[in-house]
Amino acid sequence: MEELISRIKQDGRVLGEDILKVDSFLTHQVDPKLMREIGRTFAQKFAEAGITKVVTIEASGNVPAAYAAEELGVPMIFAKKAKNVTMNEELLTAEVYSFTKKITSTVQISRKFLNETDKVLIVDDFLANGQAALGLIKIIKEAGAEIVGVGIVIEKSFQTGRGLVEETGIPVLSLARIAGFEDGHVIFTEADL
Ligand code: G4P
Ligand code: NA
Ligand code: NA
Repeated sequence: MEELISRIKQDGRVLGEDILKVDSFLTHQVDPKLMREIGRTFAQKFAEAGITKVVTIEASGNVPAAYAAEELGVPMIFAKKAKNVTMNEELLTAEVYSFTKKITSTVQISRKFLNETDKVLIVDDFLANGQAALGLIKIIKEAGAEIVGVGIVIEKSFQTGRGLVEETGIPVLSLARIAGFEDGHVIFTEADL
């Protein structure tokens, strides 16, 4: 997605070896116009797929996922990282290990929001080591729902996530794919959408 790639070139900041900071338009401050285009791009790709739900993980996955869901005209569900007092119904859970944060967290979705008639599009802001996506895949399969694809805003292609997700047989469609970083610059590889 050209518009996203130019924005990363303009406003993205490389931190250390392997982190891209995009907090001015995606992960902290949000550019709604760009997000609408992102939502549209995913929705156009999956327009004929019969998607019934978009699923993501809080926090910053919520933004692109909500715009995609709005365009598709379906609900968006975000897996929660903490259990709150109102979550007193049956939960679907997965353990997600973060290589970045070096912690395992439990993510959960109420079973009542997913069932075997659902066709799900997973959307997330970043694909790094793929542990978040694999956790979502496990939860959605446990509900008996079908996963049509994984839509990613920024894929770090030099990490293991894409390969791990593709091994499950689910296609990954990324709007920007990063081959690596060189002297603080982002090197892109051809995007899927
Ligand atoms: P993985 O799910 O692909 O294994 O990702 P990993 O554990 O490595 O990433 C942990 C968190 O860091 C995730 O957010 C992920 O979206 C985010 N992340 C990974 N790589 C980058 C990057 O290069 N830049 C930025 N800005 N974020 C990155 P999170 O902690 O689950 O959620 P949130 O609450 O921050 O949204
Ligand atoms: Na994030
Ligand atoms: Na995320």
